[in-house]
Amino acid sequence: MSDNISVEDLEEPLTLSTDVYLSREYARAEGERLWAKVWQHVGRVEEIPDVGDFITYEIGEESILVVRSAPDTIKAYYNVCSHRGRQLVEPKPGAHSSSGKKRKLFVCNYHGWQYDLEGNCVHVLDRDDWKCAMTEARARLGEIRVDTWGGWIWINMDPDCQPLREYLEPMASHLDQFELDKMRYRWRRWVVFECNWKVAIEAFAESYHVKATHPQLNKYGDFYALSVAQGLHGNNHFHSKKEGENSSASKTVSRTGKGADARAMISQMQSEFWDTMQASTTPTMVAAAQRLVDELPEGTPPQEVHEHWMAAARRDYAEQGVVWPELDPDRVAAAGLAWQVFPNMTILQGNVFALCYRTRPYRGDPDRCIYEAFAIERFPQGEEPATEWIYTEADDAQGWGKVLSQDFSNMRAVQRGMKSRGFRGPLPNPVQERKVTNLHRNLARYMGTGAPRRIE
Ligand code: FES
Ligand SMILES: [Fe+2]
Repeated sequence: MSDNISVEDLEEPLTLSTDVYLSREYARAEGERLWAKVWQHVGRVEEIPDVGDFITYEIGEESILVVRSAPDTIKAYYNVCSHRGRQLVEPKPGAHSSSGKKRKLFVCNYHGWQYDLEGNCVHVLDRDDWKCAMTEARARLGEIRVDTWGGWIWINMDPDCQPLREYLEPMASHLDQFELDKMRYRWRRWVVFECNWKVAIEAFAESYHVKATHPQLNKYGDFYALSVAQGLHGNNHFHSKKEGENSSASKTVSRTGKGADARAMISQMQSEFWDTMQASTTPTMVAAAQRLVDELPEGTPPQEVHEHWMAAARRDYAEQGVVWPELDPDRVAAAGLAWQVFPNMTILQGNVFALCYRTRPYRGDPDRCIYEAFAIERFPQGEEPATEWIYTEADDAQGWGKVLSQDFSNMRAVQRGMKSRGFRGPLPNPVQERKVTNLHRNLARYMGTGAPRRIE
């Protein structure tokens, strides 16, 4: 099989090179070939609501400054002074990033050059010393492509990149229905973790691990899911190994199909999600689920229980002034369970919430990554909580919650295990882990090396 493997090839049993996870050289090349070429989200639009608000985004050795330069304009610049290369805005040591508000100017602390919000260099001490060589163009900040989708700000360092919307398809068209842009942070946590960024994101790219890693969730249903390559991205759907069951399995209720009493099961599952993740549901959804046993007679079929719960939650939200998007069940089913957004993001979408993960290299070190998880949610106007990035040690089970702690237990051990001379390369599941192989198929197109190979 050549390096240009096709989507169809992903259905074959494949193996991957461990170099893509372990090699310093490969990690260095990622800076040039991958991160400098892809669209990547740098934060939520809500983080910079007013003119002059800014955040920084650190990716490998690069730092990007993102600022609202006008009420309806966001700009992104390389976070470096044109004079002698001092970082213009320095994140505090150990901080996630830098953020704040500038009235009009960014001032470099070294020699005092000043830049306005448009990136123009508006003050150079003793400018005449350069004679005519110090042009506006040479002195201004290096500008980067920026756009928004889904309530996120996205940047791309490649001036010739394709438009964001095109890059995000077909994911964007599948997820538009959930109105992610109307959601706000519920919480956000991060940690510098001891594994490659791909090991970390792959821990969230499939449901194949649920049986062994999250045994407490299996009582709620079968997590067998078909993983599908979607261009650069990928998603997955509930699936059944039994012929003929898949039209219903792909609808949303199969996860709640287990157990004699669907009312109790949905209620218990929602409470458990909230208690162990504070995500993938909301307090309003949980409260509506807890009423099911009182509102419906015993023996109500699961599909009806599910519909009643959704209708009740919709009414509860409407009373709080939050109007749900109109969702068509077939389109919701087509969007599936979760998306892998190339290269480093996972979105588990819902009608009024989403749980998201992002991983990226920590400096150029293949053995470390920045891992972030955050929940976004629809809130009544004015009731959005104030949040910030909370550094949470990987072994802080209280902070991360039970489910993520279980996922973490694998990530470090995979990074260690793959270094064994006895390891013959990963064997991703050809049905349930195609989001993983598709990530590597696409990575290889950017990197020029490391495509999945047929198992010899
Ligand atoms: S390096 Fe910024 S003013 Fe000199
Ligand atoms: Fe997991």
